[in-house]
Amino acid sequence: MMPFAPTWTKGCASLRRARWMSVLSCVTYLQGDFEDPKTYERLRDQLERVEQARPTRGNRLFYIATPPAAFAPIGCQLGRTGLMREENGAWRRVIIEKPFGTDLASARALNHKLLDVLDEHQIYRIDHYLGKETVQNILVLRFANGLFEPIWNRDHIDHVQITVAESQTVGQRGRFYDTTGALRDMVPNHLFQLLSLVAMEPPARFEGSAVRAEKAELLEAAQVQNTADALRNSVRAQYQAGYIANNKVEDYRKTADIDPASVTETYVALKLMIDNWRWAGVPFYLRTGKALRSQLTEVAINFKQAPFAMFRDTPIDRLARNFLVLGIQPDECISLRFNAKVPGPSVTITGVGMTFDYEDYFEAARSTGYETLIYDCMIGDATLFQRADGIEAGWRIVQPFIDAWRNAGAKELAAYKAGSEGPEEAEHLLVRDGRRWRAIRG
Ligand code: BG6
Repeated sequence: MMPFAPTWTKGCASLRRARWMSVLSCVTYLQGDFEDPKTYERLRDQLERVEQARPTRGNRLFYIATPPAAFAPIGCQLGRTGLMREENGAWRRVIIEKPFGTDLASARALNHKLLDVLDEHQIYRIDHYLGKETVQNILVLRFANGLFEPIWNRDHIDHVQITVAESQTVGQRGRFYDTTGALRDMVPNHLFQLLSLVAMEPPARFEGSAVRAEKAELLEAAQVQNTADALRNSVRAQYQAGYIANNKVEDYRKTADIDPASVTETYVALKLMIDNWRWAGVPFYLRTGKALRSQLTEVAINFKQAPFAMFRDTPIDRLARNFLVLGIQPDECISLRFNAKVPGPSVTITGVGMTFDYEDYFEAARSTGYETLIYDCMIGDATLFQRADGIEAGWRIVQPFIDAWRNAGAKELAAYKAGSEGPEEAEHLLVRDGRRWRAIRG
């Protein structure tokens, strides 16, 4: 029996005690060394007892919530002990959570080891971003509306900005974070999920293998940059002391478990190009960072300017840019920025906005992502999980940045104040292309 009981705080207020007790009565606890084959034999015996007592039909879902170094050894032991063998109509699945490797070589090695003992269809690589309703809605917005798809290409789109800004600091996760950094922690997984959903081709069916194949294909089409381009098209930075919402934040290097001479980035901005028919010439700017001014996750699609010629003889000197913004968090919304005439006798134009807010429209409570994904795994729907080819395609794009930064050491590391919108260098990444980031305002 698990040696704990829930505390009946506000968060679990809606969890009825009786229901919880019935869940608790199904829980057993087994302790063991994950490298010891005997642990898995005991686990097998225990599962067999559970399967006799409960109508599980022999189905098993293993959620490997361990440090990544243990994924392969545990996966191998599960495979070897026969715990993953699918027989008599029962399914056997394993969930693992990022990071899936720390670079291209280690991601390949991990896939290789897992696929030695498990079938791809048994492995569910979870990325909690894919459980967010608004992330899933990107596909519905694009493919269930005749409105957007005809203009979703290089003829009409000037560029795309993907922002995952966090106001939280590294906090207590120093040991993990200092060896990981913003690029590895966020880009090949969460940001690339957003990128692939926004930019992929329409899949033939809304079904696991078709969707995952298109996502992987999109990442395959991203340009793999050489070292000089990787340096030119990236900014990495570390936060220094500052204030976030009036709270003092100390320098990253003074945080617990952080090397005082650390060159780990807490912010990254990248410019990527996709070499396919739809996106040739359209830059995708990605940025993510910690200790920023506010939390903001959004995908902003900037449409090309209307020809200005018609307004040449009017007092109008510029038109606001047309943006379609998919807000992921904190606000779950879709908004459109366009130009409108200011009422009055003269022709004056201003940028205005129209917003659809999920909360206003649907009453469903916001999900954390995990419940959707775990449910999907139980019903065998892998649409929202990552496949080995997609993982490797992501690391292939990121690897040149890792290599270029390793060689550059501290030289290319910029700084930004905690509570700011990031380093100035990130502004230059767009300004040199005649563009600007959208403001980070949660
Ligand atoms: C995790 C990262 O995967 O995602 C964290 O390891 C990050 O560093 C988190 O804070 C962000 O997730 P969310 O859902 O809060 O945007």
